[in-house]
Amino acid sequence: MLVLLLVAATTLRLCLLARAQPLCRNHIVRTGKVFHIRQQIQGDQLYFSSPRTQLIKHPCKKNVALYLGRQVFFTTDNFRSSLFPLCIPAALKVGTPELTSAHIADSVLVLVVNQKVYIYDYEANSWNTSLGIERPVSHVSGDNCCYSRHPFCVDMSNSVFAYLYGDQISQTTVYFSNTRGYKFQKFAYERQAELVGSLGGTFYFHSLSQVGLLLIDQGKAWFSYSEHPLNSSFGLPFDYNGTLGILITPGQKGILIFWFEKSLLVSRNSGQLVYPVHVREGPNTLYSSISEANVTIHSVAANENELAVLTQENSLYYGSLGILSSSLIKFAGQNICTQDAALMFTDVGRVEILTPIPDLMFPAFDFQKCSVNIQAILMDPQFEVDVCKVELLEGEFDSKMYTIDMNSKLELTALMIPRPGKSLIPLAMVSNPHSLGLQAIIYEDGYTYDGNTKHRMNISLKQQHHWGRADPSFTSSIKRPTGSTITLDVANKEISCVDLKPLTAFISVGCDQEKKIVIQNEISACQNNILDPVGLQDNYSYVIERDAYDPNFQGQKALEDLVVQYEYEKLGCPSLVYWNNPWKPVVELWREGKFQEVIETEFVLLEVHGLFTYTYSLTAQTALCKAQPQNWTTIMETASDRGPFAWDRENYVSCHDPDNEAPLRWPNVPYQILGGPTANKVIFDQRNGIYVFYISIVDPYYSYCHLETTFSIYVHGAFPLSVILAAATIIPLVAVMLLSVWLAYAIPKLLHTEKGLKFKGFWIYLCRKCRKACACFRGRC
Ligand SMILES: *[C@@H]1O[C@H](CO)[C@@H](O)[C@H](O)[C@H]1NC(C)=O
Ligand SMILES: *[C@@H]1O[C@H](CO)[C@@H](O)[C@H](O)[C@H]1NC(C)=O
Ligand SMILES: *[C@@H]1O[C@H](CO)[C@@H](O)[C@H](O)[C@H]1NC(C)=O
Ligand SMILES: *[C@@H]1O[C@H](CO)[C@@H](O)[C@H](O)[C@H]1NC(C)=O
Ligand SMILES: *[C@@H]1O[C@H](CO)[C@@H](O)[C@H](O)[C@H]1NC(C)=O
Ligand SMILES: *[C@@H]1O[C@H](CO)[C@@H](O)[C@H](O)[C@H]1NC(C)=O
Ligand SMILES: *[C@@H]1O[C@H](CO)[C@@H](O)[C@H](O)[C@H]1NC(C)=O
Repeated sequence: MLVLLLVAATTLRLCLLARAQPLCRNHIVRTGKVFHIRQQIQGDQLYFSSPRTQLIKHPCKKNVALYLGRQVFFTTDNFRSSLFPLCIPAALKVGTPELTSAHIADSVLVLVVNQKVYIYDYEANSWNTSLGIERPVSHVSGDNCCYSRHPFCVDMSNSVFAYLYGDQISQTTVYFSNTRGYKFQKFAYERQAELVGSLGGTFYFHSLSQVGLLLIDQGKAWFSYSEHPLNSSFGLPFDYNGTLGILITPGQKGILIFWFEKSLLVSRNSGQLVYPVHVREGPNTLYSSISEANVTIHSVAANENELAVLTQENSLYYGSLGILSSSLIKFAGQNICTQDAALMFTDVGRVEILTPIPDLMFPAFDFQKCSVNIQAILMDPQFEVDVCKVELLEGEFDSKMYTIDMNSKLELTALMIPRPGKSLIPLAMVSNPHSLGLQAIIYEDGYTYDGNTKHRMNISLKQQHHWGRADPSFTSSIKRPTGSTITLDVANKEISCVDLKPLTAFISVGCDQEKKIVIQNEISACQNNILDPVGLQDNYSYVIERDAYDPNFQGQKALEDLVVQYEYEKLGCPSLVYWNNPWKPVVELWREGKFQEVIETEFVLLEVHGLFTYTYSLTAQTALCKAQPQNWTTIMETASDRGPFAWDRENYVSCHDPDNEAPLRWPNVPYQILGGPTANKVIFDQRNGIYVFYISIVDPYYSYCHLETTFSIYVHGAFPLSVILAAATIIPLVAVMLLSVWLAYAIPKLLHTEKGLKFKGFWIYLCRKCRKACACFRGRC
């Protein structure tokens, strides 16, 4: 930062105070009063508790904004028409309609009025009292994700905190909602009782995948974070003067702005380091903070990359929130600051000072707007600002969201063109480097084109691989998906590069929803004419005999036979498995409908109807387990609330894991995990029939997704035991003839039952054995 300040100091030749022209020109919005009279809501007119105005813009919907001042205004057309002040319906009986805090969560306003939380859904035009908050609260906080409609992004917009500012942190109750504030529950912060100081705020820092509590004690403040690896450390303390308002800038880059009348601080890493903003008031005057510059802040506005401040001294200050710079430049104005004035960005490099004006004739207010074009002001020769040395910075990835699952990587490319003869320093910043183990490597390749050097850049991102032995400063909880942003910027760019915004993408390190598993079905029972595909599709059912299954999956025989409807739509034709071959399904990973690889890692199987006529080739001992392996029985005991199919990557613990301390007490129990380091296989009992298996990939290091599916197999080739006995006592040829005659009569009746399948399997076996000797019904077998 020091380097940059020096650069800025040598390149800026500002002569700011000598401007003759006004900073901006006023115009007044006065529309919709006669023709579009909106019915004013009967209710209590809200007012904002703070003497400083605030303007909250919806980061994703550019025309939606909330003005907080002596009146409260809500607009969906960016204040392009006159408005009634916002009222809360009398039916909600709020008492004093004093608004202390507000947040826009997607399509609802979350408002704290008289220490309670109310919701106004502006699309449905309905008000609700939020549920679950038992104690008084003063503030709400939240963030909106505009990158995509991916569930990870939607969840961010739905998360809201409610808390009481200034309460003793060790005993206060913080509330969290993942329903945009409709319903709250108590937020459990692990070490809350040990923390000292009072509560300055609770925020979900999505750029860091952490919840941060701001603690205030004796004029200093610092953040405490909820998750590993930051859970054991605090952010660095900073001066806390007055009651700081905290602004989370849009875009999840981890930029926070703290402000009060006499202080303005900024953090670029979700509060881990917080610095005062420097103030430049002419070529040779640089103050290290707002209080040193002796100005009083009235209103603050920020967008993804810019910051603007309106002071009571009628000055406007502007600064870039680039990766490195953090100083403001002063533009003098005249009479721009009144008690009701508020500041907002309408676009990149465009600031508007907005003032509501009452109308004596109508209850609706008009709006005075004063628009400032920052780029145009800086171009004024009087400012002597160096021209921006970057001509172009562009990349396909800007404003997009990507997913990196385990074992995958992401390549982003960008193009940077400097002005002829200038050189640029590209810089990529990852907002969540330590806890993700994300590495961004810039490969730069310059080439000359039309006398210009262009820079093509590849940014390679991947998640550090762990196997539990990663750098301890990376997230150890690989079971929890996290997020981060990556921003590409030019480190040494000038203040005049107003329109040249950094490129930012959001990266979700988590489940890639396009991933699916598919069980290879190379030899299906239909291809071999063992099962009839037409019959299977026609409401086919089969019987599982009562001594072969347990509806409770405990291996106990059932009391009655089970009739199973075969779900052909879902399962297709079963694949064919010969009973006497040890078997393991071949599991394939597919992504976006394309085959990726055969999955070799650990998975488990369970027959969905409770068939237990199979076991495993290995035992805990022969699988070389160091600890007692888990099995379906132990999983069902511990996760009873999730039903029987609860074995997944979240609760799987390998018996080969050196940290697994369960003693190996029963070495001879079957080892129920397939794949991974062992050659374990399934061994079938001597029984023909359809098995429908649930399969779940349990290796936590393979993917963040819960990869699971169901599939069916047909086990064939086993002699039904009773038939073997009969066949041994009768002369084989006679038996075959008799059976042939009988089958010709019985098969049409039997084919649709489990027994029929059994006989059919047996018949196929016999046919193969004596194909030449007997004239078998070829058409059938
Ligand atoms: C909001 O309140 C209305 C009645 O006032 C109720 O019908 C509706 O279910 C509530 N909505 C939610 C999400 O609680
Ligand atoms: C931080 O989290 C890690 C992993 O969840 C845990 O082992 C550690 O004890 C936690 N530290 C504190 C101070 O709570
Ligand atoms: C906070 O106040 C102290 C003393 O009043 C002052 O020294 C310090 O610079 C102030 N800090 C900020 C960030 O304004
Ligand atoms: C700060 O400004 C006020 C009013 O503008 C002035 O009275 C005061 O002397 C100034 N203080 C310093 C230290 O410049
Ligand atoms: C960047 O990626 C592109 C396409 O993936 C490749 O052609 C180019 O060689 C790469 N450049 C560098 C410097 O790695
Ligand atoms: C399918 O079979 C079940 C019972 O075997 C019967 O209740 C149902 O009506 C049948 N459905 C069709 C479409 O044939
Ligand atoms: C499951 O494991 C437990 C020990 O953890 C063992 O007592 C039990 O017999 C096992 N069950 C099966 C079906 O192997």
